[in-house]
Amino acid sequence: MTRTIDIIAGARPNFMKIAPIIRALDARAQAGGPLAYRLVHTGQHYDPKMSGEFFEQLGIPEPHVNLEVGSGTQAEQTGAIMTRYEKLLTEKRSDLCLVVGDVTSTMACAIAAQKLCIPVAHVEAGIRSGDWTMPEEINRIVTDSITNYFFTTSVAAGRNLQKTGVSEGRIFFVGNTMIDTLLSNMEKLRAPSFWSELGLTERNYFVATLHRPANVDNADNLARLLKAIGESARGLPVVFPVHPRTAKNIAKLGGLPSNLKMVEPQAYLEFNYLVRHAKAVITDSGGITEETTVMNVPCMTLRDSTERPETVEIGTNELLGIDPAAVPPAMARVFDGAWKKGRIPEKWDGATGKRIVAALETLLA
Ligand code: UD1
Repeated sequence: MTRTIDIIAGARPNFMKIAPIIRALDARAQAGGPLAYRLVHTGQHYDPKMSGEFFEQLGIPEPHVNLEVGSGTQAEQTGAIMTRYEKLLTEKRSDLCLVVGDVTSTMACAIAAQKLCIPVAHVEAGIRSGDWTMPEEINRIVTDSITNYFFTTSVAAGRNLQKTGVSEGRIFFVGNTMIDTLLSNMEKLRAPSFWSELGLTERNYFVATLHRPANVDNADNLARLLKAIGESARGLPVVFPVHPRTAKNIAKLGGLPSNLKMVEPQAYLEFNYLVRHAKAVITDSGGITEETTVMNVPCMTLRDSTERPETVEIGTNELLGIDPAAVPPAMARVFDGAWKKGRIPEKWDGATGKRIVAALETLLA
């Protein structure tokens, strides 16, 4: 009997996590496998630059359903996604709800499904920063508290879950689907259109991304960070794809260093091309610290904590905190060639999507 899985995607970092799962499901379906899927886009991210271009580049099919929730406060988005997804499930149930990552859509759909007694599987379960000021941490805790099947990226994530009482049999250490996507696209990465215009050459520029409320919601703080980054780059270009949340505050700033090159949010292949060839990356993202680890590019994270400790312990990532004064000495170490070399964490090998689908076939049999 065919069983149907809802695959939920809402915001940019979800798209690279679902792509390999969908590919593996399609491959198994062609070979007569028992699982079908319904792809549900919540519409949390809706700009082509934040959503549509990722679907095209990563070969993700058109969503079967788009809940079109759009922007709002955390509670508004959560409420709208829950209401609309509940309606969808009531009209047409699925056999399992698969959520990925830690965005608002992840938590909202997990709640709606579980309340209708539809089991929930969570990909990237169990990671914890310990920082409750991050909406993502709340989303992780709530989602994992009502998840049936946990797919983890690390042994440490599994341990975090066991500490909360999750039995070992429900935890599947499968690796990292975001890295499946990176490895399968490595040869397709391509330079963005502004590569020559900005005079970029390999290892002669930096990439910066900032979107966490703690770094970007206060305009003075954002200005101090951007000045510290620009001024410590010794005249090299700093390519800065500006997230919509950050753009709102950037408009108010003046006097930014001229080597700070603000560009639109980049599509997947262009962004990772930039990262792969950069001298170093400065970011407050979590996912990017995984990608820099695999590409062995120095990564400075402007946060006090990380839910991905393996990127620091095994990989190329270092936590600088959020004080702009920490940036210049770290950049100096990059220029001195003194940055640590990374290794690749266990099971970040490109086969995670297949492992997840194999486990789901057994679980839903
Ligand atoms: C969300 C995720 C975060 C992830 C980030 C990547 C949550 C809680 N946070 O944060 O984990 O790292 O996405 O981008 O889910 N906006 C647009 N166009 C869009 C989408 C958003 O202009 O396509 C604007 C919104 O109106 C809002 C701001 O950007 O003002 C932030 O969007 P939102 O979805 O609330 O959260 P992110 O900060 O993007």
